[in-house]
Amino acid sequence: MTSLTGKKIIVVGGSSGIGFGVAATALEHGAEVVIVGRSEDKLKAAEERLGAGHMTAIAADMANEADVSRMFEQAGAFDHLVATAGTPPPNDPIGETDMDFARGFVDGKLIGSVMLAKHAVRKLNKGGSMIFTSGINKDRPPVPGGAVVAAVAGSFTYFARALALELAPTRVNIVSPGWVDTEMWDEIVGEAKTGYFEQMGGRIPAGRIARPADIAPAYLYLMQNEFMTGETVHIDGGQRLV
Ligand SMILES: NC(=O)c1ccc[n+]([C@@H]2O[C@H](COP(=O)([O-])OP(=O)(O)OC[C@H]3O[C@@H](n4cnc5c(N)ncnc54)[C@H](OP(=O)(O)O)[C@@H]3O)[C@@H](O)[C@H]2O)c1
Repeated sequence: MTSLTGKKIIVVGGSSGIGFGVAATALEHGAEVVIVGRSEDKLKAAEERLGAGHMTAIAADMANEADVSRMFEQAGAFDHLVATAGTPPPNDPIGETDMDFARGFVDGKLIGSVMLAKHAVRKLNKGGSMIFTSGINKDRPPVPGGAVVAAVAGSFTYFARALALELAPTRVNIVSPGWVDTEMWDEIVGEAKTGYFEQMGGRIPAGRIARPADIAPAYLYLMQNEFMTGETVHIDGGQRLV
């Protein structure tokens, strides 16, 4: 396992949720961290919460190619790209799909990840890696309404396998979390979150819903283990088993 001390890690989605957890854990391991998100306010709040450390924040929308290109220019040479960014997925039954919303979701998450990879290669140091985020919705899609998110999340496994070959020796991997208690849930279900989490937490082998700090070590492991590439790491407390 290589050390992360002094390594520069770009976390797209680092101002909230899983990405914030990765940024905090990487800082604890001596890395230099660049957090990226669209909202300046969220980035500022995250910087305050992360406290002193070797970090910067860059506002950029990963669905906008000019933003993505500028972000990598500003960040400079780096060692690991972590992409956790995402927005609430479409959840209507297929016959009621809002196509603009569905396209926006695919554009942000999947095409956005393609753009990150496209521009990252110019600045990624030798020995580096890219890690993208899929999720339990590909294995346990919500019914009805889970088809679009399952298709997008599932595609990441094959995106990583192809890129791992094309970009070798740069490594490319995926983290696939189960439910994680993040701000995204507040946005999707509001106060009903507690009830959902109690119910699912009682069903899964881990006995509770994950916090971002439970998931972050999977990203650190993939950055540090030089023999992991083209892989999807599931970290879901056994949620796929129930
Ligand atoms: N939480 C879960 O239970 C769970 C489970 C499995 C998979 N996942 C997946 O994990 C990812 C992260 O989820 P989370 O729960 O950590 O969400 P979150 O707390 O809402 O955080 C999302 C982060 O992504 C940023 N972001 C969103 N769209 C962006 C864009 N177009 N360009 C740049 N940054 C963008 C947000 O900042 P701005 O809004 O300021 O841009 C924020 O920093 C999502 O793709 C989600 O589907 C989540």
